[in-house]
Amino acid sequence: MRIVLIVAQSLDGFITRHSEPGAEWTSPADKKWFRESLGQFDAQVMASKTYATVRERILQENCPAPFRMIMTRQPDQFADDQIPGKLEFSSAEPASIRDRLINAGCHACALLGGATAHDAFLATELVDEMWVTIEPRIFGTGTPVVAKRQDRELVLIDSQRLPKSDSVVLKYRIRS
Ligand SMILES: NC(=O)c1ccc[n+]([C@@H]2O[C@H](COP(=O)([O-])OP(=O)(O)OC[C@H]3O[C@@H](n4cnc5c(N)ncnc54)[C@H](OP(=O)(O)O)[C@@H]3O)[C@@H](O)[C@H]2O)c1
Repeated sequence: MRIVLIVAQSLDGFITRHSEPGAEWTSPADKKWFRESLGQFDAQVMASKTYATVRERILQENCPAPFRMIMTRQPDQFADDQIPGKLEFSSAEPASIRDRLINAGCHACALLGGATAHDAFLATELVDEMWVTIEPRIFGTGTPVVAKRQDRELVLIDSQRLPKSDSVVLKYRIRS
């Protein structure tokens, strides 16, 4: 299964504006691009703090949705939200999460943060690509894209300026 890490960051490498939860700060151009890009994926993985920022919207969805796996060390705390095969909570390692999605018939997974999920997956060989929106913002503080020591090499496969914006999307393949 193909796994693509998708993230919007400030020019100085933060995925949140200071300590503010959520990604409201991203540009309208990125929000549109992100929404459209997610249509290519039948699975999503995110960690629990990121889930908390989109939980209401996910629980209200009544259209066909991707299979979402939420990384948490305390899956029992989310028992009321769980919808087997659609929205599951797991304390498993990335490889087991990937296997669960494959067994459910998924082919393409968007890895949607936050830093904890990035750290865990980038420490494995499981991530195929990274799609990064560089937003023309500087925050100085916030949650970094990656918080743990890593040393990965990437190959640029595409770059584009988003329409009517100063935002740039860079697509990289991760060297194994
Ligand atoms: N700009 C962007 O593109 C973007 C993308 C994603 C997120 N964000 C923002 O980033 C913020 C969240 O990022 P974050 O790094 O603070 O949090 P996060 O990665 O979303 O979630 C962290 C939580 O995951 C759980 N966890 C930690 N290690 C784990 C492991 N090995 N296995 C399973 N679960 C584990 C822990 O919660 P438990 O107590 O549940 O175990 C931990 O508190 C939010 O504000 C979100 O909106 C921005």
